[in-house]
Amino acid sequence: MVIRNLSDLPKDALFGKTVLVRVDYNVPRKEGKVLNTFRLQKTLPTLNYLSEAGARVVLISHLGRPRGHYTPEDSLSLLSSLLAELLEREVLFLKGDINDTLKGTIEAQKPGAILLLENIRFFPQEETNDSAFAASLAALGDFYVNDAFSVAHRAHASVDSLPRMMPGFAGFFFEQEMSLIERAIENPARPLMAIVAGSKVSTKLGLLESLIEKVQILVLGGGIANTFLAALGYNMQKSLVERNMIKTARGILETEPASGRRILLPTDVACAKDLEGRALEVVPVDQIPSDKMALDFGPQSISEVFQSLQGVRTVLWNGPLGFFETPPFDQGTVRVAQEVARLTEQENLISIAGGGETASVMIQAGVVDKLTGLSFSGGAFLEALEGKILPGVEALSFSSAKAS
Ligand code: 3PG
Repeated sequence: MVIRNLSDLPKDALFGKTVLVRVDYNVPRKEGKVLNTFRLQKTLPTLNYLSEAGARVVLISHLGRPRGHYTPEDSLSLLSSLLAELLEREVLFLKGDINDTLKGTIEAQKPGAILLLENIRFFPQEETNDSAFAASLAALGDFYVNDAFSVAHRAHASVDSLPRMMPGFAGFFFEQEMSLIERAIENPARPLMAIVAGSKVSTKLGLLESLIEKVQILVLGGGIANTFLAALGYNMQKSLVERNMIKTARGILETEPASGRRILLPTDVACAKDLEGRALEVVPVDQIPSDKMALDFGPQSISEVFQSLQGVRTVLWNGPLGFFETPPFDQGTVRVAQEVARLTEQENLISIAGGGETASVMIQAGVVDKLTGLSFSGGAFLEALEGKILPGVEALSFSSAKAS
């Protein structure tokens, strides 16, 4: 699939034009507060390139899952001011319908202006991939740029139908995320270790089934590890276990001896009575007290991962090893992340991590710039690693052909 990049679009072709840029400003939030603005920062090179070339830049994003209705907490107005601070220039926030009046407002702006539309998921037609809605968006501009790889797995109007109607390009951030995925899946240096963690086997089954064929070592963590340990017969007591996935987990474990690959599960865990960490203790996995739940790797398990990392050439990582939101249950993930970062800096290791929670925990561990690559995409990262063709990537390649 051929995708043209923004650098293929000469700056002088942009002056006075209107460019619709799909960004993903679906930032992590807690109690109404934005936890970090990485997803905004990552789009700045694309926005600056377009604006400096004299294009009017119209940003289209979603935030949350408002399901086709206005919900004040998902309004992009707050992000509009954060973006303006990052860009050190004005950002015009535009509410209302996608129609000729909006088009008139956009065209009245000076070349180089940056405008942010209200949450595109307030329109029900976005998620139904409505082509008439996409056509009304297309009528607003001359070019389309996708700088939101993280939403490329959604066949929504602004990701799928819209680019098929306009000449389009990948933005710099999209390009960066795509090349990271390509690096991860196309012939990675071996031995290859995958760390697959997080709460549920069911949401990562596709990834597990695809990686199991490729890796030499598979480290499992979080609720996923609990379910695999239960499949081995351990009593996980109050821990999160997906009972309906135990048979599947057993099937994956049974492939281990014949293949020569190793599946690494924690041998000790930090456990507590609740998610606040009451009555915390570290125990071997066969001695979890009946009123407690496993919430993180114990020190022995962490050092087993350290040992297994020796000689590994590539690490692919998705998902936190423990309940990282509540320290000290972030320690398993943070310590392994710091070791992976240390080995990467010594140039012994290629490390590629990705996923929404994974990005948050790598920020917490202070390793964002120390890994070979960190993808800020969640579902899109997983589906691309599984080898799926994403609708947004396919649509962009269609759109690129129009631009040739
Ligand atoms: C993400 O955060 O992974 C993307 O913004 C996609 O969000 P969604 O899962 O609500 O489609």
